[in-house]
Amino acid sequence: MRTKIVAGNWKMNKTHSETESLLTELSAKRPDTTAEIIVAPTFVNLAAAREQLSDSIIQVAAQNMHFAENGAYTGEISADMLLDIGVETVILGHSERRAHFGETDDLLAKKVKTALNKNMRIIFCFGEELEDRKSGNHFSVVESQLKNALFDLAATAWKGIVLAYEPVWAIGTGETASPEQAQEMHAFIRKAIADNYDGATANSVSILYGGSVKPNNAEDIFSKPDVDGGLIGGASLNCGDFIAIVKAI
Ligand code: 13P
Repeated sequence: MRTKIVAGNWKMNKTHSETESLLTELSAKRPDTTAEIIVAPTFVNLAAAREQLSDSIIQVAAQNMHFAENGAYTGEISADMLLDIGVETVILGHSERRAHFGETDDLLAKKVKTALNKNMRIIFCFGEELEDRKSGNHFSVVESQLKNALFDLAATAWKGIVLAYEPVWAIGTGETASPEQAQEMHAFIRKAIADNYDGATANSVSILYGGSVKPNNAEDIFSKPDVDGGLIGGASLNCGDFIAIVKAI
């Protein structure tokens, strides 16, 4: 059985005190579920979030990290810094990092290797732009993103990887991939992994959907057989909405 996961990517939102109140509310209202619940606050609030959630099943992830062990990289955060405060999961490859901060497949391949060497778990994001979908290139774009950053890893490394398919045209736009579009792409991704590795590896990887998941569409999207959960942006900033999405899984 693949792990079901609902993860909230808070992006550059929530101050320290807002983080504390949202986590207090989430802890109080969290439903009983076998799904993993993950929140990814901004760097400065990670240590406090970990401390606040030390007895909770809600996990804390970072939104990014650098590939280097340490050194002269002003403004960056290393894997050891995250591990030292108990953060063992990191989101890599988010389309906002790719679009606004120039993160390429090659750079992401380095970050992936560093995270895996440190035994961290990765939520690896990828997805096509609107033009790619309009021109019918969405499958090849997604396949090359996966190939360039992940497909030279050993099969055993995949136990440390969760995939998050996030079509760029659906992020923060209110426009969601239909459950059928999500299923079609997730099945394609699983087949690409099976072709490059084997069926067992492909079937063990959790593939999340991200892009305008809301309480009113989560259940339909999550009901698809190859969708193992969601990476939630805007709706994860509101306790009621995030809890409703967790309940939908
Ligand atoms: P929205 O849910 O706001 O569209 O964001 C999705 C996302 O980018 C999660 O990483």
